[in-house]
Amino acid sequence: MHEQAGSAETTRITVSGDAEVSAYLEIAEEKVGAAPVSAVATAPPARETVVVLDFGSQYSLLIARRVRELKVYCEIVPHDVSRERIEALNPRGFILSGGPASVYEQGAPIAPAFVFQQGVPVLGICYGMQLLVHQLGGKVAPGERREYGHAVLRGGAEQAPILRNIPPNSQVWMSHGDRIETLPPGFRSLASTDNSPIAIMGNDRGMVGLQFHPEVAHTVYGKELLRNFLYDLCGCTGTWTAGNFIVEGTERIRQQVGAGRVICALSGGVDSAVAAMLIHQAVGDQLTCIFVNNGLLRREEAERTLDTFHRNLMWNIRYVDASDRFLTALNDVTDPETKRKAVGETFIRVFEEEAKKLGRIDFLAQGTLYPDVIESTTGEHKITAKIKTHHNVGGLPTNMQFSLIEPLRFLFKDEARQVGLALGLPEEMVWRQPFPGPGLAIRMIGSVTRERLEMLRSCDWIVMDEIKKANYYREVAQVFAVLPGVRTVGVMGDFRTYGEVAALRAITTDDFMTADWARLPYDLLARISNRIVNEVPGVNRVVYDISSKPPSTVEWE
Ligand code: XMP
Repeated sequence: MHEQAGSAETTRITVSGDAEVSAYLEIAEEKVGAAPVSAVATAPPARETVVVLDFGSQYSLLIARRVRELKVYCEIVPHDVSRERIEALNPRGFILSGGPASVYEQGAPIAPAFVFQQGVPVLGICYGMQLLVHQLGGKVAPGERREYGHAVLRGGAEQAPILRNIPPNSQVWMSHGDRIETLPPGFRSLASTDNSPIAIMGNDRGMVGLQFHPEVAHTVYGKELLRNFLYDLCGCTGTWTAGNFIVEGTERIRQQVGAGRVICALSGGVDSAVAAMLIHQAVGDQLTCIFVNNGLLRREEAERTLDTFHRNLMWNIRYVDASDRFLTALNDVTDPETKRKAVGETFIRVFEEEAKKLGRIDFLAQGTLYPDVIESTTGEHKITAKIKTHHNVGGLPTNMQFSLIEPLRFLFKDEARQVGLALGLPEEMVWRQPFPGPGLAIRMIGSVTRERLEMLRSCDWIVMDEIKKANYYREVAQVFAVLPGVRTVGVMGDFRTYGEVAALRAITTDDFMTADWARLPYDLLARISNRIVNEVPGVNRVVYDISSKPPSTVEWE
C-alpha cells in the first residue's frame, strides 16, 4: 500500500515473507512518537474494488494478494455469488480464478450470467479462461496431454492493452489439461506457447483469458499482466493504501461502536496490537485493553510489550500478572494437548474476571486477518465468519455476551503490518515473529516448572541475541529454542555432567502451513551452541532440528 495521507515521507522497503516476489511496497516512514498519519481527516477516494470469483484454485488467495500489491482492493467471493453482494461491492472488474474442474463436465461450476452483463472487464485465468470460452459461445475440449510447468509465451502480431510492456518470449507457468477448440465470437488469440496455440485471448470489451497463471512468481511478467488488466482495462488508479484504509476503517469502527465499550486482549503480537490501535484511533478511551502475563512468556516480554504500548500509545492497559495461576494449572501436566487446554481455560477465566470488573462491555476486538476468514473449497466456497479461538490469546470466553469487532478481517498480514507502521507501531513490534499462545509451555517436553522455564528463557535469549546480531531475524520466519526433555552425559572441566539437551528450531515459510528448516550458517550455529552450553546452567548439549513441515510441525509441543 502506498501512503498518501499526511505529510510523512515515504520510503521503499522490501517486504519479507514473500521472498520470491519481493514486492517493493511503499510505506510511510514512521518516527516513534510522530503524529499518527490518520490524524489527517481527508476523505479517502472511492474504493476501487476488483472481485475474484473463486472456482477452487489453490491460488485464489494469491491472486487477491497480487491485486492488492498493485494497490487495488480485491475480495474473493464464491463462484455462485449473489447479484446483491456484487452490487454492494460495485466492482471495476472481475477475475475468474483457476480451478480443478473441466468446464465440459456435468455440474462443473460456472460464473453467474450477470458477471458478463455488468459491462466491466473480466479476466479469466486457466479454468476461468475456459469458462469465458464455454459461457460466451466457444468450445473447450480435453487436451491430448496435460501442460504443467514452465512455457515460453509468444506475443501475437497484434498489440493489445493486456500485452503492454510484456516483452516477446517471456516465461509463464502453466497448469492445465484442457484446450480451446473454438474461440467465442468477438475474441481473438493474442499470444501462444508451444502447447497452447491460444495462451492469451481477448475481445474489444475488456474480456481477457490467460491460459497460464499470472499470480505465481514463475510467470515472470505476471504482475505486469495483472497491472495492465487493472489499470488499462478496468481503469483503476490505485487507491488501496494504508492511509486510505485507516481513514475508512476508523470511520467504520465509529459507526459500528457508537457509544459502546470495547475490550481487547493484547498478546504482544502484531495483529491484536494493530487492531487495538485502529480502534483506539477511532473511539479512544471507549477501548480497554487487557494484557495477561501467563508466566510462559520470553524473558522481559511482558515488560517490553507494556512499555511499548505505554511509551508510544499511552493507553490505559490493564496488566494482569496471572503467572502463579497458570503454573498451578500446569502442575504435573505433561501431555501437550492437556497443557494447551490448561493454558486456554485459565486464560478464559482470568479474562472473564477482568472483563467483569469493567462493567458493561459491548464489543470484543480481535485481530483476525483475511486468510483466517476465507475458506475456499471447490464447489462450496464458504466465507466463514469464524469466531475462532484466537491462537494468540488462547481462547475466547464462550458464555459472555459481546459483539465481535474485527477491523483487520479483510487485510493480509503484510497489509496489517503497514497499517501498524502508519499508525505509529514500532518496527520491533510490527516485525515480531509469531509466538504461540501457550508460550514456552509447548516448547518444553514434559513438565513445566519455574526452573525449566528459566532455563528455556536463557536459551531463547541467547538464540535471539545471536540471530539479531547476525541479521537473520527477518531472514527466517521463526527461530527458537526447545527443551526436548532429554538428559545426556557431558563433560565440563574435569567433571561429568548429566544435563538437559536444548534443540534449535529455525524455519523459512510463507504461510506456516508448510515450512523448511533454515540453512543457518555453521558459524552462527556454533556461536549459539557455544554460548548456550557456557551460559545456561543445566544445559550441556545443543542440537539443530533439520526437519521440514510436513512431516514435522514447527513447534515440538
Ligand atoms: P505448528 O507447530 O502447528 O505451528 O506447525 C505453525 C505456526 O503456528 C504457531 N503456533 C501457534 N501460534 N498460538 C499461536 O498464536 C498457538 O497456540 C500456536 N501453536 C502453534 C507456531 O509458532 C508456528 O508459527
